Amino acid sequence: MKLERTLVFLKPDAFKRSIAGEIISRFERRGFLIAGMKLIKISEEFARRHYAAHKGKDFYEPLINYVIRGPSLVIVLEGKNAVSVVREMMGETFGSDSAPGTIRGDYALSNRYNLIHGSDSPEAAEQEIHCFFKPQELVSYGKDDVEWIYDVTDSDIV
Ligand code: RTP
Ligand code: MG
Repeated sequence: MKLERTLVFLKPDAFKRSIAGEIISRFERRGFLIAGMKLIKISEEFARRHYAAHKGKDFYEPLINYVIRGPSLVIVLEGKNAVSVVREMMGETFGSDSAPGTIRGDYALSNRYNLIHGSDSPEAAEQEIHCFFKPQELVSYGKDDVEWIYDVTDSDIV
């Protein structure tokens, strides 16, 4: 079975506001499988590398300070078109621009404190998953695990 994987991390504000569980529930209810999960404190070195594309912008230093301020929950989600579906569920970058029904649109107003990171391409997902998880830390699922989420009666997962 080959479903796409993506990486999300719930940023420190999701914890401090006690809504991490609600956010995870949304992904579970959509049908995503959790293939890996760990609570970590993102290091300053990692944060600087992860957000290197924004180096030099006026929000870069405050962004680094934000993501290292508390624990983050790193999660690998598995499902059909995981990268784009998860990005859609997250909403726009700025909370106040995000539509109701999205995570940021339901729980965030800030430009910076926007609760969640999600990989923005399949290539980024692969690289980010590799960065946080060893292969043996990820769970593999089979057709039995998803037979009421997708139609798995044919060779395709529909
Ligand atoms: P992320 O990388 O965290 O998944 O979020 P994203 O793709 O939606 O947004 P991106 O443009 O990559 O920006 C990275 C993070 O920087 C913070 N930010 N602050 N003007 C600001 O103060 C500002 N702009 C962006 C947000 O936390 C955003 O998620
Ligand atoms: Mg981004």
